[in-house]
Amino acid sequence: MNTTDRNTIMVTCAKGLSGILRGEIEALGFSVNSAHETGAQITGDLYDCMKLNLHLRTAFNVLYLLKHFDCRTPDQLYKHTAALPWEEIISPEEYLCVIGRIETPTIENTMFANLKIKDAIVDRIMQKEDARPDSGKERDNVVVQAYWKNEKCWIYLNTSGRKISDRNYRKMPCAAPLRESLAAAIILTTGYDGSQPLICPMCGSGTLAIEAALIASHRVPGLMRANYAFMHTLLYDDPAWQQMRTEAGKQSKKRGKAEFKPAPIIATDIDPDAVRAAQKNAMTAGVEHLIDFKVCDFAETPVEPDAGSIIVMNPEYGMRLGETKELEETYGRIGDFFKQKCAGSTGYIFTGNPQLGKKVGLRTSRKIPFYNATIECRLLKYKMYSGTRKNKNHE
Ligand SMILES: C[S@@+](CC[C@H](N)C(=O)[O-])C[C@H]1O[C@@H](n2cnc3c(N)ncnc32)[C@H](O)[C@@H]1O
Repeated sequence: MNTTDRNTIMVTCAKGLSGILRGEIEALGFSVNSAHETGAQITGDLYDCMKLNLHLRTAFNVLYLLKHFDCRTPDQLYKHTAALPWEEIISPEEYLCVIGRIETPTIENTMFANLKIKDAIVDRIMQKEDARPDSGKERDNVVVQAYWKNEKCWIYLNTSGRKISDRNYRKMPCAAPLRESLAAAIILTTGYDGSQPLICPMCGSGTLAIEAALIASHRVPGLMRANYAFMHTLLYDDPAWQQMRTEAGKQSKKRGKAEFKPAPIIATDIDPDAVRAAQKNAMTAGVEHLIDFKVCDFAETPVEPDAGSIIVMNPEYGMRLGETKELEETYGRIGDFFKQKCAGSTGYIFTGNPQLGKKVGLRTSRKIPFYNATIECRLLKYKMYSGTRKNKNHE
């Protein structure tokens, strides 16, 4: 087996993000064969997998297909898996993790299927090399991922290992932080490209502002991470990876470079601990110099009139009844803030509670569906006209 062998690559993402993911994949020069609710497929080799891991903002994992076969019994699963040339992929000195999703009437226990796959792999390597890799649950080394649905089975190399959406900068979380990939998807959905002022009142741990700063400065997100599962396979080409990283680093626009004059990014929160956490996280991500932080009520967040700002808010959306009552007033105040202080801007509210969304009291120009884990959410868009149009928010 070779690093240049071409096969199906499945890029997975959170439910609802595949449209944005598809745009990201196409912007990297790949053509997408198909997309579904939680992923998109392309054809490519392991170098393409490296590139996708390095550049994508909204993906979870990059899976490289090793084999696809008809499978009815655990014995067939073992036989087909053992027929793959694992000794060309995994060294006996490595550590192997097998994960799977099983939707077949043949067996109920996913662990049992994973065990069969693991046995097939290590038995094959033992037979060829007279030694076998250790195995377990850690996803920091070689990861093999299986999907067995009815009578079809797919065996992938999970080239990412841990989700690539975990960017490693959020050392200080606070209540209900957004996953980095979801925050990036929200920012990309607003059409933000770094040329407009970006304002994040209620910033919490700063995820939206940090993802915006990464986008504005063309920072390649994978540069923040040192370890990927593909590095632990025998097919890994380290010089090619270092070259890719160097080229990606050149794309980043650093402060001080004459051509990079970002519009302001402002992040505020009423909780000083949240602002401290956001500042620390931004520092870890290397973008703290691009964000102005402030402790204040959201309504006191400075918004320059008629500057075409994008304002993105992620208020709590309380899942319990008592909390919802309290939050109704907050959502009403957000509507007042948009109307009275944000003329000439576009406001967005990310919420998982449509009833609270109605308390904003302004007409939405779009309601964009998203999922936050399993919760169905909406990104509500409000267009605020400038003073000359008497701040009527409708389009
Ligand atoms: C759901 S969290 C935001 C999480 C954030 N998106 C993240 O990824 O970490 C909501 C935030 O709103 C803040 N907040 C609540 N009421 C506020 C107010 N009146 N003014 C400003 N911030 C407020 C809270 O302190 C909390 O940090």
